[in-house]
Amino acid sequence: MTPFKGKDFLTLADYSQDQLYKILAKGSEFKKLHKVGKLPRLLEGRTVALIFEKPSTRTRVSFEAGIAQLGGHPLILNSNDLQLKRGETVQDTGRTLSRYVDAIVMRTFSQSFLEELAEASEAPVINALTDKYHPCQVLADLLTILEKRDHLAGIKLAYIGDGNNVCHSLLLGGALVGMDVWVATPKGYEPDEDVVKRARSLGRNFRQEIKVLGDPNAAAMMADVIYTDVWTSMGQEEEAEKRKRAFAPYQVNEALLALAKKDALVMHCLPAHRGEEISAEVLDGHRSVIFDQAENRMHVQKALLSLIIGDLR
Ligand code: CP
Ligand code: NVA
Repeated sequence: MTPFKGKDFLTLADYSQDQLYKILAKGSEFKKLHKVGKLPRLLEGRTVALIFEKPSTRTRVSFEAGIAQLGGHPLILNSNDLQLKRGETVQDTGRTLSRYVDAIVMRTFSQSFLEELAEASEAPVINALTDKYHPCQVLADLLTILEKRDHLAGIKLAYIGDGNNVCHSLLLGGALVGMDVWVATPKGYEPDEDVVKRARSLGRNFRQEIKVLGDPNAAAMMADVIYTDVWTSMGQEEEAEKRKRAFAPYQVNEALLALAKKDALVMHCLPAHRGEEISAEVLDGHRSVIFDQAENRMHVQKALLSLIIGDLR
């Protein structure tokens, strides 16, 4: 297996299937150890900077709590308080921060900005969400499916809604583990073509189906997992009304869920808008594993950090 030490985590496409399974296995082990208060202090003496250019509840708190649980020091930085906001370059920011900290976790807008940061930084950089990808979320999602189904290959995941950052990472993560990923979006909101192509090439050994459709019912048919996300992502607020109209037929509700397998799981990365992309009864219903996904963020991110900068082999 290619070594993890010092490796950036900017997109799931940078990681191999073996690496992905290793993170999931360690995440699962850490979850059990956490419940009995026996987590090893694998990040003792390590400092991790967390920079947020957009709001966050789960990502921020799960990283902060998880790093502390492993004996490390999380340093939360609001980008408004950094010289970055006054024009200091991303390169100088990256070079400087990596003289102080062992890793940089950043939530920002453009993927290329994050790539520039990673290029300049000696310390590994982890993507905490960009407009293009949300890889940490999908680590948690895959662990959640694995916990409920015991396998990932051959699972059919139907993603209904916007072809956004979460959809992109699901396509790549799903492809890496041999899942069928069917995406249904309104016209004009499809996932980026380069990501779909990449997913198809990553998944070429599995003969799996990566499909992009317009019809949510066709995507949901006999699915093992129904996944949705907000119709308006952070930074797109001025399009909210137009999007509400375009996405109205794409709500995940009881009628759509009835098309999936009887025991299908319902997933959402949160935050959610009940009555928009998902009905309240489905979000809060017995098929929902949405809060398990949220919890698993903390466990998989601990595994990721321990492999990249900690004492885990
Ligand atoms: N799912 C997720 O990343 O949530 P936050 O925006 O609250 O971090
Ligand atoms: N697609 C959403 C995900 C939030 C966790 C956004 O980017 O706002």
